[in-house]
Amino acid sequence: MDSRKLKIAVLTGAGVSAESGLSTFRGNNGLWGEYDPQEVASIEGWRREPELVLSFYNGLRKQLAKVKPNAAHLAIAEMEKDFSVTVITQNVDNLHERAGSTWVLHLHGEATKVRPENGVYDRNFSEAEVIDIGYEEVNLGDKAPNGSQLRPHIVFFGEAVPKMERAIDIVDEADIMLIVGTSLNVYPAAGLYRYARADAPVYLIDPEEVAVRDPRITHIRALASRGMEIFLERLRRK
Ligand code: OAD
Repeated sequence: MDSRKLKIAVLTGAGVSAESGLSTFRGNNGLWGEYDPQEVASIEGWRREPELVLSFYNGLRKQLAKVKPNAAHLAIAEMEKDFSVTVITQNVDNLHERAGSTWVLHLHGEATKVRPENGVYDRNFSEAEVIDIGYEEVNLGDKAPNGSQLRPHIVFFGEAVPKMERAIDIVDEADIMLIVGTSLNVYPAAGLYRYARADAPVYLIDPEEVAVRDPRITHIRALASRGMEIFLERLRRK
């Protein structure tokens, strides 16, 4: 088999960045133990208290400036030498890109980007309006060129996931699906693997049990860095 032709769809969650020092959302020391997602990561929270939401993402950006990609991000990027790899990440950090991955789809948005808030549901933004601010702060009163308040380029709870259809296509076209470090609690991302072809193996790397139990998922119970080594050994044996 010519492995160069194999397509791998990788779905990642907060666990892939845990070894870089970023907190996950759920579980011990999870961010959602410290913050209420309905306050800092929902569209209602943004309408109610935008200052709090901006400060949460300012904090996340500051943290992001200090961390580095870990061995798992690097191993995922390295796979591009031999496979056609597309990363679908629920993470709003930029560690996959900084590790060298060239095809990264951010399902839940990006912490290092902002956009003008448009209307009540904010659905119809165009990519051209998105501004890369790196690790800068954004505060109430900071306006986009069109005069509206800048908001985080994040898919808040209560908002649609605009890149979901593209993500489904990527999974549907893949020969292998690899899931790393997500508790599979948040839909629609958690159901993505179901779009994998019936003959496409689905691997999951996570040290813990996850919310979805499905016999078609091969669970590698390990931290992301070690799990990637095990996954790559299995691929080489095929
Ligand atoms: P969670 O915090 O729900 O799950 C993280 C998963 O990573 C858990 O299953 C952990 O067992 C696992 N994990 C922890 N350390 C790990 C390590 N070193 N290596 C591998 N796995 C490890 O995070 P997500 O599933 O990413 O959405 O959460 C999904 C979405 O919920 C996020 O994108 C975010 C959140 O609310 C938004 O903010 C819109």
